[in-house]
Order: sequence, then C-alpha cells, then structure tokens
Amino acid sequence: MRYKAPFYEMQHFKTHLHDEAGTAAMGAALARALVPGLVIYLHGELGAGKTALTRALLHAAGHAGAVKSPTYTLAEPYTVSLAGQPLHVIHFDLYRMASPEEFLDAGFRDHFNEQNVCIVEWPEKAAPVLPSPDVDVFLTVAGAGRDIELQALSEQGTRCLDRLNFAPNL
Ligand SMILES: Nc1ncnc2c1ncn2[C@@H]1O[C@H](COP(=O)(O)OP(=O)(O)OP(=O)(O)O)[C@@H](O)[C@H]1O
Ligand SMILES: [Mg+2]
Repeated sequence: MRYKAPFYEMQHFKTHLHDEAGTAAMGAALARALVPGLVIYLHGELGAGKTALTRALLHAAGHAGAVKSPTYTLAEPYTVSLAGQPLHVIHFDLYRMASPEEFLDAGFRDHFNEQNVCIVEWPEKAAPVLPSPDVDVFLTVAGAGRDIELQALSEQGTRCLDRLNFAPNL
C-alpha cells in the first residue's frame, strides 16, 4: 500500500514545566482545548506527573472533588462541563493491569466513543486492545521540574493542540 500523507500538519508542542504550578497551568490549558471523543495517552515513569496533570485538567474543567489515581479500580469517570454541555472524562491508570484481556473483560472499550474524553496513564499495559490516541503526552523529570511533549496523532488531536493556549511560567 502506498503511504498517503495526511492533508493537515500534525501539531507538536514541547515545553518545560518548572514546578507543580506549571503542571497545573498546562492542565488548565488542556481543559480549555478539549474536544468530545478525544483520547489522550499519558506516558512517563512513576512520579512523572501524569496524575498531577489529569487532576489539574479536571479541576480546571469544573470538577470540585478529589482526583485520585485509580490505581486499583483502573478507571474513574468524571462529569465536567464543556461549553455549557456535560462532558464525561474517564481517567484510566492501567499500571496494575495484569493483561490486555483485563481491559476488554472490564468493558473499558465502551468508554471510548465520540462523546467521552479518555485520559490513559500507562497505555502500554493495554497496547494491543486500547483504542489509538489523538494526543500522545510524554512527561519526563528534568532537574527540579518536568519536560512535557504533546504530539497530535489525528485531525481531532491537531484541533485540540491548535487550541492549546499555554503561557509557560517563566
Ligand atoms: N512541573 C513539576 N515540577 C516538579 N514536580 C512536579 C511537577 N508536576 C508535578 N510534580 C510532582 O511530581 C509528582 C507527580 O506525581 P504523579 O502522581 O502525578 O505521577 P504519575 O506520573 O501519575 O505517577 P504514577 O505512574 O505512579 O501514576 C507529584 O509529587 C507532584 O507534586
Ligand atoms: Mg499516576
């Protein structure tokens, strides 16, 4: 099959988050840039800031309660509001998943539809069965802060990153 280049440029964005406030600001910027149906993969080692970023996103999107890593439940649903409409955001942490089949058996695929936003920590654990991402986020410890890289992988992901209006805390 001949490779066909997409007609749009895949958006790509890289910056440094100096401290937790930087992560909070990025989460808030992402919350404003969400589009229904979006799938975001969060990559990074333990303690890289995947949950911290998700927490900031959910709080900025209007969730008032706590946001804990769904370490044992593997998935936690939230309802926030986007442009006045309710939006379901499902936060996954697949670190403790024993096999990809567990993802299917739990019925997690049903969460991935055109209405929901799915944010997935440790997507590698369900790689063969996990729906593909619109945005790949890579977090790495860099000195006292974190480096973050966001890569759009679809037209919808590009739309999200095009909207990202992030002012780094210098
Ligand atoms: N930009 C930043 N600079 C320095 N520290 C940060 C920054 N952002 C978050 N942190 C801190 O890094 C830690 C990140 O923990 P968090 O639970 O979010 O990691 P995680 O990537 O979800 O790990 P796990 O794989 O165990 O779920 C927290 O202690 C948080 O305060
Ligand atoms: Mg986490």
